[in-house]
Amino acid sequence: MTSERFFTLNNGLEMPSIGIGTFMAPDHEIETALDAALKAGYRHIDTAPVYLNEKAIGKALRRWIDTNQVKREDLFITTKLPIHANRPGDVEKTLKKSLEDLQLTYVDMYLIHAPVAVPQPASGAGSSLTYDRDSNGNLIIDPTTDHVKIWKKMEDMIEMGLTKNIGVSNFNQKQIQRLLDNSKIKPSNLQIELQVYFQQNDLVDFCKANNILITAYSPLGNRDMVKRRLAAGTLKEDIILFEDPTVVEIAKNHNKTGAQVLLRWILQRGICPIPKSTNPGRLQQNLDIYDFKLSDDEMNRLAGLDKGLRICDTSFFKGIEKHPECTW
Ligand code: A2P
Repeated sequence: MTSERFFTLNNGLEMPSIGIGTFMAPDHEIETALDAALKAGYRHIDTAPVYLNEKAIGKALRRWIDTNQVKREDLFITTKLPIHANRPGDVEKTLKKSLEDLQLTYVDMYLIHAPVAVPQPASGAGSSLTYDRDSNGNLIIDPTTDHVKIWKKMEDMIEMGLTKNIGVSNFNQKQIQRLLDNSKIKPSNLQIELQVYFQQNDLVDFCKANNILITAYSPLGNRDMVKRRLAAGTLKEDIILFEDPTVVEIAKNHNKTGAQVLLRWILQRGICPIPKSTNPGRLQQNLDIYDFKLSDDEMNRLAGLDKGLRICDTSFFKGIEKHPECTW
């Protein structure tokens, strides 16, 4: 089933159909995790400046490339324009900083990380932890965000050879349509939370109709985020997708794990999952999803599990909901 290993983007370029997500993968774990991932066969790596791990990823990639264990052109590296740089004047320098940290001359996909914006933090460091807040702990927002103006700069990044593809993340249908109506280069990718309890079917149909590939983040239900929300009290009950009885039963039918069924279900919908793991065994397991196929009945039963339940909420972005373009 080799053809399943890649998706073709709307510009004809290919993207490996599964990637490794690195959100909430700390620096001290990521370098060894990347070694294990590259050894297992991952070639698609998803990161972002706000994950604070681009330098560690860059070190691992450089080692692999310099020792001829992997060719740069066989890798597919995605990074993102963070919300603290969501302004036309910040695009080029922010991408160049990511490239410096990743030790690359280009990335394969550059995404606008989210439709919202905050000012550059005074500390210069970019993560939700360092963003400026008011006395109630709410983020200070930059409400002047104009996606079309930012997109023009994103298009320039392709023309300058700094990225092969451009896309968006966490955008809604209306925001994407505005870009489609006002762009030279169409977005080739939308990255959103998508898992069996949060299926986003309208957005998926819209993207399919417009030939925009979807990447699913937190496809396994992001255990790290669930634990963080339980501790913060923003989630009342634990959510473990791979323990859902339907998922467990289907997994038994195929002699696979629940995680593999959750990923296979996404892949079979023509969507690219980017499960995060820093554990070599689980990294390998998450890649071993090309040797079985879910039946139509199993696909339908999994489709029936949708609860509209978003796991990656914005509790740690308190105040961002006041931004006029907020989609969370
Ligand atoms: P770990 O990094 O220790 O493997 P998501 O991709 O939805 O964000 O989920 C990531 C979470 O799921 C992490 O806590 C990760 O832990 C865990 N995880 C990743 N792969 C598997 C798997 N195959 N089985 C169980 N847990 C997994």
